[in-house]
Amino acid sequence: MPRRLRWVKISLLTFALLLAAKGSPAQQRPWMDTSLSPDQRADLALKELTLDEKIDLLHGNGMRGWAGAPHRNALLGNGGAGFVLGVPRLGIPMIQMSDAAYGVRSSAENGRYSTALPSNIAGAASWDTQAACEYGALIGRELRAQGFNMTLGGGVNLARELRNGRNFEYQGEDPILAGTMVGNRIKCEQAQHVIGDTKHFAVNDQETGREEVNSVIGKRAMRESDLLAFQIAIEIGKPGAVMCSYNALNGDYACENRWLLTDVLRKDWNFKGFVVSDWGATHSTVKASAAGLDIEQPLEDYYGEKLKQAVQIGKVPMAELDEHVRRVLRSEFAAGIVDDPVRKSVVDVEGGFAVSQRLAEQSAVLLKNEGGLLPLDKNKIHSIAVIGPHADTGMISGGGSAQVDPPAGYQPVWKSHVWFPTSPLKAVSAHATGASVQFSSGGNPAEAAELAKKSDVALVFVYQWTSEDFDLPNLSLPENQDALIEQVAAANPHTIVVLETGSAVTMPWFSKVGGVLEAWFAGSKGADAVANILFGDINPSGKLPITFPRSERDMPHPTMTLPTPEQLDKSAVMKTGEAKATFEVHYDEDLKVGYKWYDAEHKEVLFPFGFGLSYSTFGYYGLKLSSANGVTVNFTLKNTGKRQGMEVAQVYASLPQTSGEPPKRLVGWSKVSLQPGESRDVSITIDPRYLSIYDEQGDAWKLLPGEYMLSVGGSSRDLPLQEKIRLK
Ligand code: BGC
Repeated sequence: MPRRLRWVKISLLTFALLLAAKGSPAQQRPWMDTSLSPDQRADLALKELTLDEKIDLLHGNGMRGWAGAPHRNALLGNGGAGFVLGVPRLGIPMIQMSDAAYGVRSSAENGRYSTALPSNIAGAASWDTQAACEYGALIGRELRAQGFNMTLGGGVNLARELRNGRNFEYQGEDPILAGTMVGNRIKCEQAQHVIGDTKHFAVNDQETGREEVNSVIGKRAMRESDLLAFQIAIEIGKPGAVMCSYNALNGDYACENRWLLTDVLRKDWNFKGFVVSDWGATHSTVKASAAGLDIEQPLEDYYGEKLKQAVQIGKVPMAELDEHVRRVLRSEFAAGIVDDPVRKSVVDVEGGFAVSQRLAEQSAVLLKNEGGLLPLDKNKIHSIAVIGPHADTGMISGGGSAQVDPPAGYQPVWKSHVWFPTSPLKAVSAHATGASVQFSSGGNPAEAAELAKKSDVALVFVYQWTSEDFDLPNLSLPENQDALIEQVAAANPHTIVVLETGSAVTMPWFSKVGGVLEAWFAGSKGADAVANILFGDINPSGKLPITFPRSERDMPHPTMTLPTPEQLDKSAVMKTGEAKATFEVHYDEDLKVGYKWYDAEHKEVLFPFGFGLSYSTFGYYGLKLSSANGVTVNFTLKNTGKRQGMEVAQVYASLPQTSGEPPKRLVGWSKVSLQPGESRDVSITIDPRYLSIYDEQGDAWKLLPGEYMLSVGGSSRDLPLQEKIRLK
């Protein structure tokens, strides 16, 4: 054998022997064995980690724009809100996190592009879990395309306070609707192989003074409302992460609240993922760690060197540290980001437009349609006035960390009004090709009224901008828009108001206009969606996920509890070395969130929870209840109108008198599509927990024996079918 060949042979033999001694790649890295469970894989990887590597997994490395000098690892970031380091020698990737409430944030800064979906509250208004799934899947895809493997979306705080500037990021006032919708969003978002998240845990229900406020609320009320929304979201979506909120809850800051993070989240709900602090919401090392906070963001004020030292001197037990690390690793394996590392690609712009438009069409809520003014008949209308600030060029979007940047624009500054280039004027003109379509900004109401007067119809696009870090002073439309509508409607009763809002608004002009459509913050293709509805290509099917009260005076808290300027001083909170909230908000309406309040207090409302019109009409017949395996509600739904449409049939339960519950609660629904004249038998099985109360003493859900009334219909105040059932 030639020498050279012999050498090759020997080398190959040596290599084979070495390989046999070390084991196959899977044996060398057993945590990469995909047949093992995420828990097993996390345990195996954890064993390999040094103390420094463990600490690396538990804190952020800075955020662009955050106060102070850039972090030493800043350049490793992907331009998102935060990231934690990986362990390259073990194949564990960095977790690159991005805000992604209604689309991926920071596109402008990063020179990328993201689709803006309709806002989250709009998503809830679709009452369609399939739509929620599409919502999450799109965001998951666009996150990965942009190099992120974790979302910071998934907000599910209840709209206890209608002036809360972040209501547009949440899913309304009912825990079952909100939890179900966001759970489905998270499920489909994570299916794209990104770590899902739900936030802000918990009772962060107003923005003003959010870092200094102590939210005071009873445990039963919390379990049956704000916490129930999270519980359902976690059960359905199994998010890899939960973000604890800025505020304190019944005395302890949420991110160091042992009852919240350990007793409820980890033990009672069996949450297996990790808890990440909201940005700057960590207030301690030992207390937070013992309470169950796993990751500090965006820096390492408490979870870097301080955490390491606390472990070294035994103030934080190694087992506790390992538990944090295990949870982070487990979520990485469970979400698939280890086995399917992110590969950047170009966002599917056209595909995103299609999804965004479809969701906007499903989410818009028709609130008034006097005398069948809508849909507009293009053959009969010769002139249309399109009125409203920016109605020629765009539609408003929600601000703060949820902000999606518009294409071909500028770099929006924090809390600025951002108009998306989806033009109502163009969209309306495209439908009404035979008509004269003219625009007035409404800056001069008299001029707008003049235009309305000489037009067949006036479409008035009005807005209420809302944002993180901001609460509405009241529910009135800003910028004199109420007066604008009044004047236009006085000039032409065929006035249709299109609302672009993040929460409820009051409507002093309501009786004077012919139509009202709630379009919310409608996303990248909002104008096309709205025009399709106005001209009848789409039959509206959204229903309100919040009550619209007649006035702030009717709300549980006619005025908000605001901090004094001294109470807003965060440094005062921190001087003692211990964090203490400086003012309190008492959620003493307790169980009576949203419609439950107005029902219990016998208050009329402008629009009830669950309300929304269609161009068709629906009949409800033949309610039958059975309690064989839990309670099942059967009834027949018929499209009694002249065109195909979708109805959200809702089921409410009234608990036995002795329960002390508000008059009724939503316990189920079904969104059904029907052709004209078509009937369908609908069957909805109610989760027994949704009929239960939270028994504070026994610390458990309890189904009370007694008589339950189940009501079925098209809104919380239109329930034609009612039937009683006795439960043991
Ligand atoms: C917000 C979070 C957000 C985080 C990171 C905070 O101000 O409350 O919702 O995820 O910033 O941008």
